[in-house]
Amino acid sequence: MAVIAIIGHKGGVGKTTLSINLAAALTKALHSTKTKEPVCLFDLDLRLPTITDILHSHPQKTFFNLFEVLANRTYQVGFLQDLYQILVPFQEYKAGNIPKDNPRLLKSIAKYKNLNEELFNHSEFEFGDQVHELFLMRADIERPSDLKKGVVTQLFKCIDIKKIKNILREYEESGQVDIDEYISFIKEYGFSILGGEVPILGKRSHRQRINEPEFLALFLQFIQEVCGKFKHVILDTPAGGVNHLSSIMNSIDQVLFVFDVSNTIAVKGSIDALHTFIDYYEDFFANYKKGHLTGLDKSYVDRLITIKGEKAVEQALKTKKMGIIFNRSQNNNEVTWCLDQLRTYLETLNKYEKYKDRIYITGMLPNHKVVNITNNRGTLFYDKDKTLSSRMDTIAKNITDPNSFCPTLRYSNAEIISSLEKKSKLGFSLPFGRIASSAS
Ligand SMILES: Nc1ncnc2c1ncn2[C@@H]1O[C@H](COP(=O)(O)OP(=O)(O)OP(=O)(O)O)[C@@H](O)[C@H]1O
Ligand SMILES: [Mg+2]
Repeated sequence: MAVIAIIGHKGGVGKTTLSINLAAALTKALHSTKTKEPVCLFDLDLRLPTITDILHSHPQKTFFNLFEVLANRTYQVGFLQDLYQILVPFQEYKAGNIPKDNPRLLKSIAKYKNLNEELFNHSEFEFGDQVHELFLMRADIERPSDLKKGVVTQLFKCIDIKKIKNILREYEESGQVDIDEYISFIKEYGFSILGGEVPILGKRSHRQRINEPEFLALFLQFIQEVCGKFKHVILDTPAGGVNHLSSIMNSIDQVLFVFDVSNTIAVKGSIDALHTFIDYYEDFFANYKKGHLTGLDKSYVDRLITIKGEKAVEQALKTKKMGIIFNRSQNNNEVTWCLDQLRTYLETLNKYEKYKDRIYITGMLPNHKVVNITNNRGTLFYDKDKTLSSRMDTIAKNITDPNSFCPTLRYSNAEIISSLEKKSKLGFSLPFGRIASSAS
């Protein structure tokens, strides 16, 4: 399994176009291996998902549905479980089945005093009124004997604990996520898609929840399960990156930065995206080695270790590949300028020496008139336009074939350009290990 993220912080640099066509090219490249589930294209643009529309394929369920289910699981189920754990010892005590110093009863009183009352506003349960009233009495109930007050006894007569338990069971069952319902296999293209259709973060509660660790952990778990099903997963990310999902970076094997060489501001944005990623990666790896990961990062890595083993996780982190795709190139000077800018920037940060062999130049796509996303025509150009397809094949080969030569940042500009151009035309490859005399 390899997870590839397509990143470029500026809008409109070609992330979605490249993601879609890379899915098609990888599917073709993997065809010979006859993998059952080769490729999944994952629309991680939670604000404005576009892939389902572009490809005219609509999964049975979208992330919007997923968020609703996960919210149920995080909020309603947890809330109902707490309620149940409070009410049962209360009832037992009132019925005289447990004494006033019973540890379970004392714990439930503490829970009762601390339960987040706001959750009642989220709950749509029919028993809400009586239970809510009980919680409004919290100031008057300090010790078990207070539960024997007349008004409390009256209230308890109206609370049906069995009913609460049945509702809890229903919620627990409906909180199960069947990942297949979210994945749509497109026969025509031979790959699957997953993601949104409507703006998932358009709903206020969804916007709030995506930043809450409990909720996010469930979302990341879902992503991890999906990734496990496929040989290659391509993540199309939104402009501005995936800050709210920084932990997702841990499960990514390769990060491909899209440089729109026709736009100097966009190039600077992509350099910044690459540099930000290096910073994130270095902090994460250092904390991982020192055992200092906390919160979501820690729980995520712990779970990965349980699945893959410590060695595999460390190896995946250590060898994380960073690649660059130049998009919309019209002449080689633009590419040369980008490479020089990137080297200078990394040198200024004292990062060039450390990363010159780790940053691969994975591909180069020309600016092309067939590509036109505004009316969706031409977006999936793969196999429709020879020049573009051969360039996508080069990118796919550089990803799938460990023996494929792919120049790194340390090669000269001329060598990089000639390698990318010739490879897609003639299958040409430079001798491995050749080192640039200078960054020309
Ligand atoms: N190589 C190319 N040649 C010509 N047009 C291109 C090329 N790559 C992308 N485009 C066009 O640029 C526009 C933006 O592309 P795309 O939507 O893929 O960018 P994006 O980075 O995903 O944008 P966003 O940040 O909004 O998600 C589209 O109209 C697309 O057709
Ligand atoms: Mg996009």
